[in-house]
Amino acid sequence: MKATEVLVSQHVFLNTMLEEMGRAARTLETLAEIASFARLAETLARDHGRAEESFLFAPLDNVLVEKGQLSQLCFDHRESVGFLRQAQEPRQVEEARGLLLAGMARLREHFRDEEGVVIPLAEESLPPQLLEKLGDAWMGR
Ligand SMILES: [Fe+2]
Ligand SMILES: [Fe+2]
Repeated sequence: MKATEVLVSQHVFLNTMLEEMGRAARTLETLAEIASFARLAETLARDHGRAEESFLFAPLDNVLVEKGQLSQLCFDHRESVGFLRQAQEPRQVEEARGLLLAGMARLREHFRDEEGVVIPLAEESLPPQLLEKLGDAWMGR
């Protein structure tokens, strides 16, 4: 599978998870429950972010930097994780819920933006055999 296809399939999986978690998050009653959802979303986002950075952004580094898009993608990662982290700190339940939902919504927007930027660039700048190799390495991680 090409690295671009792995990216999309991971986004599909993560979107499903985040959608379900978002629905359930509306009924959570305690800060501890909200914090555990936020921790799970943070772990999922961070693992995915690290993998895509190694297997797709790094090989595309020059092109993305040239277009000034790498810093925006990395900023999005930090911003969503920042909301999710804040949702794990002691605060009012409604405030924590708002941060959790904002972090998850930000992630979903980011997946869409990322696909729009990275997929066309990768298809245009990396040979298909390399994309296959990177995708296999990503899957075997
Ligand atoms: Fe990302
Ligand atoms: Fe991604």
